[in-house]
Amino acid sequence: MAEPLLQVRDLNAWYGAAHVLQGVSLDVGRGEIVALVGRNGAGKTTTVRTIMGLIAKRSGTILFDGIDLMARQTYERFGLGLGYVPEERRIVPGLTVRENLMLGLLAARRGMAGEAEAINAVAMRFPRLGERLNQEAVTMSGGEQQMLAIARAMLSQPTMILLDEPSEGIMPALVDEMAELFLELKRSGTSLLLIEQNVELALEISDRAYILDQGRLVHEGASAELLADADIRERYCGLITESHDGA
Ligand SMILES: Nc1ncnc2c1ncn2[C@@H]1O[C@H](COP(=O)(O)OP(=O)(O)O)[C@@H](O)[C@H]1O
Ligand SMILES: [Mg+2]
Repeated sequence: MAEPLLQVRDLNAWYGAAHVLQGVSLDVGRGEIVALVGRNGAGKTTTVRTIMGLIAKRSGTILFDGIDLMARQTYERFGLGLGYVPEERRIVPGLTVRENLMLGLLAARRGMAGEAEAINAVAMRFPRLGERLNQEAVTMSGGEQQMLAIARAMLSQPTMILLDEPSEGIMPALVDEMAELFLELKRSGTSLLLIEQNVELALEISDRAYILDQGRLVHEGASAELLADADIRERYCGLITESHDGA
């Protein structure tokens, strides 16, 4: 098997004295969509924040494209080809859609050369953003803001994007559109690590999945197999007990 693009080994993370990640190891291959699922508080966000270098107290190994990330600053990790769509979106108030997109270019150190071209490409791919380039971004719907956060991450042409609950709080039509976008990214060779509270969606579009519970991985496997396992769905994903209340 070819070397995975992302190799995480024995990752541990702490908030103060709380040991919230306890030996997490996972791989994401080139062009693969990998889902990371598990209940609230399992440690999913902490895992991607640690991969991005945003958790101070941590140990373990993270290799990305053969490079040891632990020794790198967060901005360097962006420059190496990692894209990140955080849980809280980070759409900047007071800035227009275009200005928010420009932050994505800055993060990638692409500078402003080719800026117009890059923004045009976004406007073509995301017509609703294209129509609103000069509108203040926070006046858009939650779903449009989420699409903006994803488009912004894509602007740096990352080889891998970490997505933390991208479908949270957005309407079903946009969730379908987002799922289509993820598959399109995969076809273009981009790898995705997808955290989703919509476990069904995550398992449907991913190749493989890891289930995290209380800071430890409790299952990994082909997504289709996990999706078919009613016991796993009920025990770790809250699929049966929580997620079908129309939320
Ligand atoms: N900034 C923080 N300070 C202290 N504890 C935190 C902080 N963020 C998260 N935690 C705790 O760490 C654990 C993992 O949280 P998190 O990674 O956000 O889980 P998930 O994304 O799976 O819901 C939880 O017990 C949570 O309460
Ligand atoms: Mg989270």
